[in-house]
Amino acid sequence: MLSLLFGSFLISIAAIFGPCLFATVRWYRKLHNSQLCLPPSPPGQLFFGHTRVIPSQNPEIYYQKLSKEYKSDVLYFQQYRTPVIVLNSGRAADELLSKRGANYSSRPRFVLFEVMRWGLTLTFMPWGPLFKAHRALLQKNFTKSNVLQYQERQEQEARRAILSITKNPSGWESHIRRPVFASNIVLQIAFGMELTRDEDSSVQVATGLANRVLAEGGSPGSTVIDNFPFLSKLPNWIVRSEALRHARKWGWIIRHLHDTPFSASKRHFENGTLQHNSFAYPLLKRHAENQSRGISSDLTMADINGAAATIFIAGFDTTNTTILVGILALLLYPTVFGKAREALDRAIGKDCLPAFSDRENPGLRYINYIVEETSRWRPLSPLGVPHKSLEDDVYNGMFIPKGSTVYFNVWAMSRDESTYEDPELFNPDRYVPIEEGGVGEPILQGPFGFGRRICVGKHLAQASVWIALATLIATMDISNSFGPDGNEIKPDVKFSSGLSR
Ligand code: HEM
Repeated sequence: MLSLLFGSFLISIAAIFGPCLFATVRWYRKLHNSQLCLPPSPPGQLFFGHTRVIPSQNPEIYYQKLSKEYKSDVLYFQQYRTPVIVLNSGRAADELLSKRGANYSSRPRFVLFEVMRWGLTLTFMPWGPLFKAHRALLQKNFTKSNVLQYQERQEQEARRAILSITKNPSGWESHIRRPVFASNIVLQIAFGMELTRDEDSSVQVATGLANRVLAEGGSPGSTVIDNFPFLSKLPNWIVRSEALRHARKWGWIIRHLHDTPFSASKRHFENGTLQHNSFAYPLLKRHAENQSRGISSDLTMADINGAAATIFIAGFDTTNTTILVGILALLLYPTVFGKAREALDRAIGKDCLPAFSDRENPGLRYINYIVEETSRWRPLSPLGVPHKSLEDDVYNGMFIPKGSTVYFNVWAMSRDESTYEDPELFNPDRYVPIEEGGVGEPILQGPFGFGRRICVGKHLAQASVWIALATLIATMDISNSFGPDGNEIKPDVKFSSGLSR
């Protein structure tokens, strides 16, 4: 009886794992029998590939070092069964992600983010009709010319933030984040209204926490849960994954940020008080009109909710963090601050506040350079959001397998010594053209991504960072705080690791 039971146990094991083993061997042989070489990679481990070799904290620095060591801007890794390609130069990223964009514009499945309950969020959608519909919706709203309509609001928000700081300088950071600046701009653009006091405070709490969720979630698509989706259905005591526990614990924040402002938006729409130039308004109007005519809508409520929430979630923390990094640079480099203040005083006078009408003033190009240098010096998303390849490809004689997860290493691009002299230095002057006596280093391509997945909100974000920093420099001094002993407190600067730093 016992041997019968043991026999059927073995048969069940073989039935479950046999096909997996067979598929793995076939896949491995296909990959390695190819006439072409894969890009260079360090030694891996059986079954795990490079999963346990890649550091979980700041993998971009590891990739950058390896790229130098192997003298190759393209690297190959294997995360369990998934081929991973890391592009460490702007040239490789531009060639593959932009010029060959048709093959490299999908996304891997982000199972951990599904556990966090991200809704219909463009950022994480794979290539396909849904992606195209959402991308078209968002892209048309944030073109260079279309975002001009938001400038007045951005100026007002920057001034309100500065006014709040003058009243409470020690709370400066929360004044940049809240009550007004980064989150309010995207909140109003997306959802078209101000929240009630209660909604507002709960959303503010959630935005603060969302920062943590994104920062601590690790590189997207890289966890064991992303590689073995069935694990996401098992309880914590079986899986024992810190990432899964994290996603389960904090998922409510993501849902809250999706749903609370959208419910308020719908309420305002029904009351006729929703701002007409918001993103949500024309979509809700179309939806309501179709419903009253009994026509089924091309866009569901879930689509409208997801697209509007994408603007808010993709827009507030990214912009806010970039402004904070700019302020940090101005604190650490007082000569840059002094030069920027002087430029503003000369160009617009000491009694005026900067406005977008000054942005093209040649005398204020230094402020534009500060904005660009902020994104180069400490790129917000050092490995970007990974793309996925749809077909096998060859680049510079190297084989790139179909289904590869493709990271672009903006950190390595920003530290490329053949392009940037002394890359660690925050030096806005590096962009002054040669004909004007400068060294004419190029603006870094990459902080906003590449090709068909390039950041939809780039123009809006750069305008927000410009007006925030220009208004701040024109009106404030920035210095370290002083302790009770009267000594200056030098900041101990640390960056988090993850999707956004
Ligand atoms: C300084 C601020 C920002 C930075 C550094 C930034 C950076 C990025 C990066 C690196 C990507 C991935 C690009 C790729 O995969 O190639 C991205 C995607 C995206 N960003 Fe931004 N972003 C910023 C602000 C914003 C704002 C304000 C919005 C909203 C209007 C926004 C909306 C999006 C969307 C919707 C995507 C997904 C695009 C897609 O997958 O097709 N971003 N962003």
